[in-house]
Amino acid sequence: MKSLVARVAIISVVMLGAAMSAHAANLMGPTPEQQKRHLELFHEGQALWPIYCNHCHNARNPAEFAPYQWDQIIMHMRTVENLPPEDAAAILEYLKTAR
Ligand code: HEC
Repeated sequence: MKSLVARVAIISVVMLGAAMSAHAANLMGPTPEQQKRHLELFHEGQALWPIYCNHCHNARNPAEFAPYQWDQIIMHMRTVENLPPEDAAAILEYLKTAR
């Protein structure tokens, strides 16, 4: 019984430590790899946006909508245009951050 209590206590401490270090990592902001990936996606989206989004109507300016609205708009437009998921993700990254 005692060893079960000890095990639960050890597991709790380990889990708390993991949660705290994950929290600390979030507070430190994106890693250099994440920043690089963001920039790649951004430039890809910047190049694809006038191609896909000018097709049926004028390409709408990124500043016209808030990031959470672009989430919903892209969800709708990617089905209308049948966008490949990776292109939709790049355009979304561009629209949400170019303002
Ligand atoms: C196949 C045609 C088509 C393509 C391609 C297309 N759209 Fe649209 N879009 C529409 C239509 C039709 C509407 C209006 C009716 C509706 O909501 O379905 C619209 C509406 C919109 C609106 C208006 C929302 C509002 O409330 O004013 C936005 C913003 C938009 N599209 C963004 C985009 C973006 C970003 C892309 C590129 C990923 C895109 N569209 C590509 C057909 C298209």
